Amino acid sequence: MVDAIYIHIPFCVKKCGYCDFLSFQSTESQREEYINKIIDEIRLYPKVKYDTIYFGGGTPSLLEPYQVKKILKELDFDETTEITLEVNPKTVDKEKLEQLKEAGINRLSIGIQSFNETFLKKLGRIHSKDEGINTYNLAREIGFKNISIDLMFSLPEQKIEDLKEDLKMVFKLNPEHFSIYSLIWEEGTPFYEKLLSGEYHETDNDIEADMYKLIIDSSKKNGYHHYEISNFCKEGRESRHNTKYWRNREYIGVGLGASGYIDSVRYKNTSDFKEYFKFLEEKRFPKMEEEIVDEILKEEYKHILGLRLLEEGISQSNEGKYQKKYESLKKNGYITEKKIKNEDRYILTEKGLFLANEVFEEFI
Ligand SMILES: C[S@@+](CC[C@H](N)C(=O)[O-])C[C@H]1O[C@@H](n2cnc3c(N)ncnc32)[C@H](O)[C@@H]1O
Ligand code: SF4
Repeated sequence: MVDAIYIHIPFCVKKCGYCDFLSFQSTESQREEYINKIIDEIRLYPKVKYDTIYFGGGTPSLLEPYQVKKILKELDFDETTEITLEVNPKTVDKEKLEQLKEAGINRLSIGIQSFNETFLKKLGRIHSKDEGINTYNLAREIGFKNISIDLMFSLPEQKIEDLKEDLKMVFKLNPEHFSIYSLIWEEGTPFYEKLLSGEYHETDNDIEADMYKLIIDSSKKNGYHHYEISNFCKEGRESRHNTKYWRNREYIGVGLGASGYIDSVRYKNTSDFKEYFKFLEEKRFPKMEEEIVDEILKEEYKHILGLRLLEEGISQSNEGKYQKKYESLKKNGYITEKKIKNEDRYILTEKGLFLANEVFEEFI
């Protein structure tokens, strides 16, 4: 039975220069109407008890706490449910954080990206270094016990020393979890234009690998598990919601452009605002793309997603038709064997981790 839901909130105060997530500026009334449509969409699904609820974006923290509460009222959950909300520092203050907590949010994912003013400006972020830190400290002060931070690296002209400073601040703040993403140059973004015009340059591959290694080594030294390619956490503080994706579990996705995976079908909702509204006015699912996940595809997903979980990997009993593939990956040093709870499993080696995309291609 599905027990996870992703809720997409496609609104941002201002678009960041590198971002091609589905998000845009909005008015108060658009947000209110959108919340009502999200509720209509939730009502199309059977009522289930949720283990994880995830408000992602865009900038879900742009919503008023009563709107978050209104959505949560539609969902069945209890005090054990992990309920995450992505936060952009400029959009919350103490009172709002208190109200979000009171509404039921028990995990925050704060989009910090960098603690360096120059890079924050370059990225087009709406907050300063201090505002990022203050948001984190306020959340702690009012009692959030599960906080994640998003950081980015491999930024234009970023030096290893700059990254060291950012990491130092992460370890000082001591969140339960952090994600760190290497910049992707997305076509159509202002960053991509600057790359084409020669104003910005891609980071040299060797420097990027050194940066990634620095992140991994310093995180371990500071007591973090590197449990997924881009994700680090304190003992037992994995993102329960995202771990379901990597374990190839089914989940409901609601909202504009949201993806979901239910009853062996992976789907994507329409990204057209008007169309999304129209579908829901007609009480129809706003799905645009559907992929039937047959046994062959399910196997592919299982291996590609499962190997991302660096401490868990894939059970050897699941190797099936990939037996020869695993043997050769092992022989070439990309994967290794690990016994977990008396079960033999395959996990990526450090070499496999740095060449993860090549490893994953083997399963397609
Ligand atoms: C949808 S955003 C959620 C957080 C919120 N919107 C914010 O930015 O504060 C998820 C994360 O993806 C990362 N991200 C977005 N665009 C990226 C890109 N082009 N390359 C690498 N990471 C990116 C950022 O770290 C961002 O925090
Ligand atoms: S990175 Fe986050 S805040 Fe910036 S535009 Fe993308 S979704 Fe919005």
